[in-house]
This record gives sequence, C-alpha cells and structure tokens, in this order.
Amino acid sequence: MKNIAVIGGQWGDEGKGKIVDYIAKNIDVVVRSQGGANAGHTVIVNDKKYIFHLIPSGIIHENVKAIIGNGMVLDLPELMDEIRILNKNGIKTAGRLFISNRAHITLPFHKYVDQQSEKISGKKKIGTTGRGIGPTYMDKIARVGIRVADLYDKNVLKEKLEAGVGKANELYGRLYGAIPFSYYEIAGDLAAYADMIKPYTADTVFLINKFVKNGLSFLLEGAQATLLDVDFGTYPYVTSSNSSIGGLFTGSGFNPFLLDKTIGIFKAYCTRVGEGPFPTEQNGDTGEFLRQKGYEFGATTGRPRRCGFFDLVGAKYSCMINGFSDIALTKLDVLSGLESVSVCTGYEIEDKRIDEFPSQISILAKAKPIYKIFEGWNDNIRDIKQFDALPVQAKKYIKYIEDKLKTNISLIATGPERQNLIER
Ligand code: GDP
Ligand code: IMO
Ligand code: MG
Repeated sequence: MKNIAVIGGQWGDEGKGKIVDYIAKNIDVVVRSQGGANAGHTVIVNDKKYIFHLIPSGIIHENVKAIIGNGMVLDLPELMDEIRILNKNGIKTAGRLFISNRAHITLPFHKYVDQQSEKISGKKKIGTTGRGIGPTYMDKIARVGIRVADLYDKNVLKEKLEAGVGKANELYGRLYGAIPFSYYEIAGDLAAYADMIKPYTADTVFLINKFVKNGLSFLLEGAQATLLDVDFGTYPYVTSSNSSIGGLFTGSGFNPFLLDKTIGIFKAYCTRVGEGPFPTEQNGDTGEFLRQKGYEFGATTGRPRRCGFFDLVGAKYSCMINGFSDIALTKLDVLSGLESVSVCTGYEIEDKRIDEFPSQISILAKAKPIYKIFEGWNDNIRDIKQFDALPVQAKKYIKYIEDKLKTNISLIATGPERQNLIER
C-alpha cells in the first residue's frame, strides 16, 4: 500500500498522532491539509513526548518529508516554536519541511475575535480552541486573507494588511472595545517571520505532484475529525474546515484517485472537547474513570475532555462518508478495569429508533442511546502484541464493533508509547 490517509472518526483526539508515527516509518511524504494550531497530535518515543500542532507528525522519522498544505491556516509564532523544539531535539527540518505558499496566515486579530466572541456568547459558545481558526478561514472564504506568498509581495501585503487591520479596529473596537491593533507592529512581526520561514516555502501543489511522479509514497494526516467537519459534523459545534476525507485533497492538491488506503481512527470509547451534543456522554463515575485513566485532557488547551461510550451511529456515519478501508482502534487499555463496557447501537428519539446520525443538533440533542452491554476485563493489556492474546471479553467487544462497521480493525493501540500496538 503506497498512499494512505489517516482520518479521525469521532470528535478528535482519537490518537491520530500515534498512528501516523507508526505508519510514517514506511512512508516518504507526510502531508497536513487542513486546520491549524487547533490540532494537537501526540507522539511519544522513548519517554519523549512531542505535541504537533502544525507540522505533520511524521517528521520524527528522519527520511520523511513533511508538507504543510495549501488548506492549512498558520499561526507563524507557533510554527517557529515547533520548528525550534524539533531542531533542539535533533530533528532536522531544513530540506525536509515544506510550507505551501497558498496557506493562509492567522493574524493577532483573528485570535482576538475568536476568543472574544466566545467570551461574550455565554451559553451559546462553541468552545473553540481560541487559536483564531474560524476567523482565519472566514477571511479566506471572503477572499481577503493573507497567504504565505503575499508575505513576499510588499504591495499586496501592505494593501491586504491595512484593510484587515482597519476592519478589525473598526469592528472589534465597536463590538468589544478592543485596543486598536497596530498595522506597523503586525507588519514588522510578519516581515521577521517571513524571513524565518522563507527557506521552507514552496508551491507544494506542484511539489507534491512531482514527488508522486517520482514514485514517492504518501501519508495524508487528517486533523480534527469527521464529526467536527464543517459540513458533516454537529454544526455549529464544529471546526471551520473539512476535516473528513475531502479536505485532505482540496487542502493539498494530491490526486484522490491515487489513494490506496483510508484508515479511520476511533477511540475504543468516545470523547469530545468543547460544546455540542454528545449522546453517549457519561457524567458520573464512568466518565471520570475514562478521563483519569485515559488522561483525557486536551493536547492543545489542556481542557478536560468529555468522555462517554463508543457510538456506533456516529461511527457508521463516519465510515460512510470517508469510505474507510481499515480502522485503527486506540486506547483499548483504558477500558481495562471497567465492570462492563457499553456500545451505543442506535438512538431513541421521540419514541422512535433512529440509526442514521441526525443532521440537526436539535434532534441529536434529544437522542437517548440504546446500549449493548459487554462484560469488562481487568488485565493490563499494554504489552500484548497479538490479537489472540487479548482478554476474551476485549476480543468480543472489538469483533462486535468490527462486524457492525463492516470494516477491518487492523490496528489496535494498547498504550500511548510507540510500541503499544497490535497489528492484525
Ligand atoms: P490526536 O489529536 O488524534 O493525535 O490525539 P491526541 O494526541 O490529542 O490525544 C490522544 C492521547 O492519547 C495522547 O495523550 C496520546 O499519547 C494518548 N494515546 C494514544 N493512543 C493511546 C492508547 O492506545 N492508549 C493510551 N492509554 N493512550 C493513548
Ligand atoms: P485534533 O487534530 C479535538 C474542537 C474544539 C471546538 C471546535 C471548534 O487534535 O484531533 P476551533 O478552535 O477549531 O474553531 O474549535 O472543534 N476541536 C478539536 N477537538 N481535537 C482537535 O484536533 C480539535 N480541533 C478543534 O474543541 O469544540
Ligand atoms: Mg488532539
């Protein structure tokens, strides 16, 4: 299998970083195509923990080329921090990291309005990461965004930045009483960052296709997840990009017909950070057990993640949209120690059984999960390397999910470290 995509099947934080790290060892090029520093992908190697926000997680492998695609939105200070951390740890970025000249730049007023609008929306807030993602994509869609290439065109940059700062000061001053943003300060910072990232910038659309022609293999690393997709997710409690399969192509210029395998990443249970409906959420002891045992705290914001049982209705929907050829089931070890483990097989909404994931959150919010209950297991499974060696109850649980999703669960993660993985 040459070209592989890895996509979150639930509400994010499924363990994409860990699976990307595992697959990337046999891959030439890893590409991120959407989202920005809202993502937090964790890779743990020899007790060293890396959290990637913008740079593709596969960069840890020294032969991998890493590409930040055209569909991403870039927080430049964050990007430089990540580059510095990698370099400090002996991971070279020169000649291996490429940044699309079409990617959009997140500016200080994007972050400001993201945080401020959340603050004043009270109960109606989305629970964003506050990284300016939505406002940066708003400017992109409104065709006023600043792209990486613009940083090197004085006149275009001046015109766009003056307009952007002017609008921000006018609007946010009135709405939120914002202290005026300084064009000169932002322009000065951008000029400094433009110099720093210059060696990495490229027309990655052509670069990717040149690499394809030269026979290199690809791993498309999804960020966020299908139920957070702006079109397919629990709108408006979603992110502002297409975080299911389509976004991987529009955000990179990689030819969709060259993809050989699409792996859906699912946690063995379910989590969500931020607001929005979550039918299988557990607010009592079970939720707390999963949060503590699974260390369910956001890799980007540190917020506690909401925890609950595996939801087959959402998972089936996710499989349908992405056409997963395989599934990686992660964090199975976290379930060890529960007396019983439940799987949601359908929803009851206003006395009717529903098997299709609702398009409206007002309906989803009324969903009562119908559960199938499995006997739990107690064993520590972290070092198990063979599927057959898993506790019989765990095997039953996995086979049931596999059967219902009609998709092979070919990878099972049993701990956060690189080596905690079962290949089937
Ligand atoms: P991503 O955004 O999908 O890459 O996932 P995150 O990195 O945000 O969150 C996943 C968390 O679970 C990280 O802390 C990982 O180190 C951890 N993790 C990944 N796989 C496993 C696993 O199989 N078991 C356990 N216990 N932790 C895991
Ligand atoms: P990874 O790639 C989990 C969530 C936020 C919020 C909503 C909108 O690590 O899986 P945004 O800042 O994007 O406008 O926030 O989306 N969210 C994530 N949740 N994992 C992520 O990324 C997320 N990126 C955004 O919590 O509910
Ligand atoms: Mg994450």
